[in-house]
Amino acid sequence: MTMQQWNPETYEKNARFVSDLGTGVVDLLAPKPGERILDLGCGDGALTEKLVAEGCRVVAVDASAEQVAGAVKRGLDARVARAEALPFDAEFDAVFSNAVLHWVKDADGVIASVARALRPGGRFVAEFGGAGCIATIRNALHAVLDRRGLNASAVDPWYFPSDADYRAKLEAHGFTVRFITLFPRPTPLPGDAAAWLETFAQPFLGVVAPADRPALIAEVCDAMRPALFSPASGWTADYIRLRFAAERA
Ligand code: BEZ
Repeated sequence: MTMQQWNPETYEKNARFVSDLGTGVVDLLAPKPGERILDLGCGDGALTEKLVAEGCRVVAVDASAEQVAGAVKRGLDARVARAEALPFDAEFDAVFSNAVLHWVKDADGVIASVARALRPGGRFVAEFGGAGCIATIRNALHAVLDRRGLNASAVDPWYFPSDADYRAKLEAHGFTVRFITLFPRPTPLPGDAAAWLETFAQPFLGVVAPADRPALIAEVCDAMRPALFSPASGWTADYIRLRFAAERA
């Protein structure tokens, strides 16, 4: 199975909006000078830098060694670690995460790992894709693979829970949920839909031979065009976000 890979150059070109649109969840975190914060899934460190600029002592982790290398280049304390296996014990005032948790299907493993990393009373503040996120894109990928007799469900990497489901998980791990909301965030894409698929949907594209990928991408784009493209605004992806703030007992 093809794993999702992050390439710093394509990320800069096709995915910079991910951190640009992360300021709302930074506001919800309300970082205070001197706080020790874990940035979970830091990517290339663009938002980590904002937390450091607020005077926080930040450790950044990401599962991608390439992204961690980009964050280290910015002068950040960035390390490779998986969200479900964080090597920290009761040491952070807050765990912050933007646009990452939908990539990890083991949500209970992540929440337990975050709870271990936080001091008692510490906050877990995050935003990621929620129920129905990119439904048009996901449905098109499944339909086009189904048509070829290929099993899209076996490679679909995304976890998009409802607010009720995620609240229940947080509470089951001893968190008190202070705030949780699911909201649509239609997202204009900086490039075309093919660039989005090449950047974010690699596990689906990897099930066909490289020579067949351009045709697969074209078919997926054709299926999405009526819902997501307009000549005036270009491509707009149908993102839905789940944003929350919770407190560890
Ligand atoms: C998101 O940020 O919601 C997202 C990004 C890429 C793929 C799926 C969801």
